[in-house]
Amino acid sequence: MIKVSLADHVTLFQGDALSVLTTLPAESVDAVLTDPPYSSGGVTLGARQAPPAQKYQQSATRRHYPPMLGDAKDQRSWTMWCTLWLSECWRIAREGAPLMVFTDWRQLPALTDAVQGAGWSWRGIVAWDKRSARPQLGRFRQQCEYVIFASRGRFAAPSRACLPGVYAYPVNPASKVHLTSKPVALITDLLAVTAADATVLDPFMGGGSVGEACLATGRGYIGCELSPEYFEISRERLKKFLTERG
Ligand SMILES: C[S@@+](CC[C@H](N)C(=O)[O-])C[C@H]1O[C@@H](n2cnc3c(N)ncnc32)[C@H](O)[C@@H]1O
Repeated sequence: MIKVSLADHVTLFQGDALSVLTTLPAESVDAVLTDPPYSSGGVTLGARQAPPAQKYQQSATRRHYPPMLGDAKDQRSWTMWCTLWLSECWRIAREGAPLMVFTDWRQLPALTDAVQGAGWSWRGIVAWDKRSARPQLGRFRQQCEYVIFASRGRFAAPSRACLPGVYAYPVNPASKVHLTSKPVALITDLLAVTAADATVLDPFMGGGSVGEACLATGRGYIGCELSPEYFEISRERLKKFLTERG
């Protein structure tokens, strides 16, 4: 495990999320916002074990990204694994902290079970409308991904703002640094349920979108990534961001 502190309020870990999380103190973060590997992309184990670039990219737009790790679990082991890391996040979160976890339509039921099994109080889902998706002959496009919203105990809302339940942001291929990069603007909107000085935990940092949104809004950030390549990409991205912002 490697630990790097980019600033007082920004700490990054390279290592397995479960090992890293066990080192963090109880009730030490104000929110958890993360985007784990979905282990999705098919209903059979064979389909799930295809390379993520094949599962999640249309052939016409395929670009090369470093491999995304941990995306080939079967349904039962994925659900159990999610329960384990979500339980650790629950321990590390302060009472009243919000949890936001990305998922897709296939994994939504399993992940809401894992969230509740880990002790979180499930409070709803937010839809991310990606504005485009592969056309499906005679069927509906899967145009949305979802963010499960939960809290540790009674949710301590930081404001009385009435927030939308759907956010529409297209994926901009030019700004993607990860196969499944999430738009920074979307993450920034989601941070509305956290206090302006919150420290946010993200056990699956990927290319660093959650980190960039936290830094851009003055929040603290603790990120973890298993892949050394993505860890470096995120570290460089956040370091550059901090340097340019002074
Ligand atoms: C869906 S991606 C996150 C993408 C990120 N939100 C972004 O916008 O760039 C999930 C990340 O979790 C990482 N990962 C997979 N298994 C992990 C584990 N056990 N511990 C930590 N990171 C892991 C993958 O390498 C991948 O980069």
